[in-house]
Amino acid sequence: MAFKSLEVDRVTGGSLRAIEIGVTSRCNFRCDYCGAYDLTERKILSVDDVARVIDTLPDLERVKLSGGEVLLEFDICEGIIAYCTSKGIQTQINSNGTVLNEEKFARLEAAGLDVLHFSLNHTDAASHAAFYRVTEKMFPKIVNAVSRSVASPTIDTVVETILFDETRARMPEVHRFAAGLGVTKHEVQMEIPSVHQGYANTMDTEAVLGAITTMIEARDPRTTIYFSCLSAYFNPRSDTWKRLQLLLRDPGVIYASCIEGKAQLHLHSNGDVMICELGNPDVIGNVFETDMLRMYDESPKLREFVQKKHEEETFSCFRHFDKPGQKVANPGGLSLLPIPVMRAASE
Ligand SMILES: C[S@@+](CC[C@H](N)C(=O)[O-])C[C@H]1O[C@@H](n2cnc3c(N)ncnc32)[C@H](O)[C@@H]1O
Ligand code: SF4
Repeated sequence: MAFKSLEVDRVTGGSLRAIEIGVTSRCNFRCDYCGAYDLTERKILSVDDVARVIDTLPDLERVKLSGGEVLLEFDICEGIIAYCTSKGIQTQINSNGTVLNEEKFARLEAAGLDVLHFSLNHTDAASHAAFYRVTEKMFPKIVNAVSRSVASPTIDTVVETILFDETRARMPEVHRFAAGLGVTKHEVQMEIPSVHQGYANTMDTEAVLGAITTMIEARDPRTTIYFSCLSAYFNPRSDTWKRLQLLLRDPGVIYASCIEGKAQLHLHSNGDVMICELGNPDVIGNVFETDMLRMYDESPKLREFVQKKHEEETFSCFRHFDKPGQKVANPGGLSLLPIPVMRAASE
């Protein structure tokens, strides 16, 4: 199964075909924008916990591990990947790229990992270090990890850049940088206000459209650009949405729809199940108390979300109706938490 194929195919509800799992909420970064549900949660899901859930989902096709920085629990990630591979389930890991080394790459390859997805919002160590409040040693680790992943004969590499104030002027630069590393799949993730963290969005729709235009004009012909969560900013009845459609005709551009709640759920490190961690972190149950399939089939919250908060035109949830240009209190959110001591990969 190709990267984002469920989103590209616009799979509808009726069967739970994908889950995203926050194996751990621990992280070695404290990104201001982080939309992870609760980075202070210290419970961890074991391979057995996850295998038990997987065994109850007959239609499962894809498992994505995304925390926190899930690779801080490397053995568990490896075990889950190997289990999924044995069941023919596609796997993806989302990582900040700072805790990998050659030995870990070899183990992920042996376990059968399909997709490795890296966050990349900068092109040099100094601005990366300043933005994330980490040492300049982190950036080359990420760049080396991306390059190593690209060289892998079995792993499909994706780089993701968030479109927000920090990156809006340098989207083409980040794109060319990633393409220069050999990356052929570049995901552009719309910034989502992390209401639960007190973090507001930083761009309005016109600015987003302008940045998307520049980005598409700059597209390296060897790459495909995937745009995710566009409906957070575009109302399908607006002029900007119509203008966006023209841009999306570019053959190297993919509009990734939203399948959250319809065909995908999020499993948090304490067993809580959410409709969508970033956009709609409503908890609909806990896997240590209720069967996940039962939540999917019976949760009134989930039914209401799918029936009332998705729309046909964008095939996505319509956050733009809820909180147009919203600003929330306590900007900064996670930056208020202390930056943890680094336990990066062995040099
Ligand atoms: C929560 S992170 C976990 C994985 C890993 N620690 C990382 O940063 O890549 C998963 C993805 O969500 C994205 N993300 C986090 N907060 C976001 C926000 N407020 N809006 C849009 N994307 C966000 C990150 O860029 C990352 O690609
Ligand atoms: S977005 Fe940043 S803080 Fe959040 S999990 Fe990823 S690396 Fe950690």
